[in-house]
Amino acid sequence: MFKQLPFDKENAVNLTIDGQAIQVAQGTSVAAAALSCGLSYTRTTPISGAKRAPFCMMGVCFECQMVINGKPNQRACGTLVEEGMQVEIQHGAEAYQ
Ligand code: FES
Repeated sequence: MFKQLPFDKENAVNLTIDGQAIQVAQGTSVAAAALSCGLSYTRTTPISGAKRAPFCMMGVCFECQMVINGKPNQRACGTLVEEGMQVEIQHGAEAYQ
């Protein structure tokens, strides 16, 4: 559904999202990178386990929370990709308290 626009490979950033090594343009948000690599959700809810995905893309809804470099509850839409970044889907909240 989402795809990256062509970008200059000299300004590429390499990162891993849910075990998938990807390359995106510098300045891309983690949420955009996750959607462009085919992820259909970025977290599951703590109670029902329902899958949730980025919605507002501007830091308001908190639906895009992911585990970024081992740190949970990070809003992926407000975080820019960095070289070597490790991003994981956030499963509920129990494991991160
Ligand atoms: S998509 Fe809404 S806060 Fe990130």
